[in-house]
Amino acid sequence: MHTVTTLEDLRAARAGLSAPLGLVPTMGYLHAGHLSLVSAARAECASVAVSIFVNPTQFGPNEDLEAYPRDLERDLQLLDAEGVDLVWTPTPQVMYPPGYQTWVSVEEVTKPLEGTMRPGHFRGVATVVAKLFNAVQPHKAYFGQKDAQQAAVIRQMARDMDFPLEIVVCPTLREPDGLAMSSRNVYLNPAERRAAVVLYQALAAARAAFERGERNAESLRQVMTDTLNTEPLARLQYVSCAHPDTLQELEGPVDHALLSMAVYMGKTRLIDNIILGYLSPTDEKEHR
Ligand code: PAJ
Repeated sequence: MHTVTTLEDLRAARAGLSAPLGLVPTMGYLHAGHLSLVSAARAECASVAVSIFVNPTQFGPNEDLEAYPRDLERDLQLLDAEGVDLVWTPTPQVMYPPGYQTWVSVEEVTKPLEGTMRPGHFRGVATVVAKLFNAVQPHKAYFGQKDAQQAAVIRQMARDMDFPLEIVVCPTLREPDGLAMSSRNVYLNPAERRAAVVLYQALAAARAAFERGERNAESLRQVMTDTLNTEPLARLQYVSCAHPDTLQELEGPVDHALLSMAVYMGKTRLIDNIILGYLSPTDEKEHR
């Protein structure tokens, strides 16, 4: 496994990799969810590259950039064990040298949900992912359904900017109790960790209602809100029943929707989602 930091070393190492090349962009502190993207890439590509970069431009001024968990040595061991060929760990100076002034701004799909709650977040994500695509030039790039709006934004950007690659979106990996795996779960104290299962319970309750025939978007949002409100430690930021590609909020009867939510558990902000109404490779693995 080659581990490189500079663009020069990246390009030299990239030249020796066989096609097709799969890229898994990450911010490190890897868990089984990240590794599931790596194994999907491993299964479909002749070589696999992983980037590890805690991208400062996607964090808001009051967000957790400084506190974001990091453990590069452990990450590299995990990736080596997965048979990864190339790891790129650029520094902020490599990605954003002095004088940097170019941004990728995706419009409509970044406006609702996470875009409303985290102004500028998707500008930072789209910019860094465009730079990762340009530098690594993968044939396929792997993202998690866990960050559903991010996946929609990147799909839109890749299409609009003519990136010659395929975006692959992989299912959300969960802990045994249903909590979606996330690097930020380490912030939860034991009581918050126990309470955090309520996000998945709210999604499961809405899915059960849908399976019993409930189709009204507002009623599905209400089922999620009611479930979340049973947990005193949970502070609800939004619940949504939206179109899975445009992220526009739906009204009235729905046959296909992205259910999503953002919830504060103490100081930790958690997000989760499921897709209702059709089976696709990005659908939830059943979790019962
Ligand atoms: P990060 O949060 O490290 O996530 C890296 C990738 O892992 C993302 O595509 C994310 O959706 C996926 N992922 C996270 N938790 C997952 C889970 N439980 N199951 C499946 N996949 C999961 O997302 C980012 O980094 C950044 O925004 C990035 C795209 C790297 C740009 O900086």
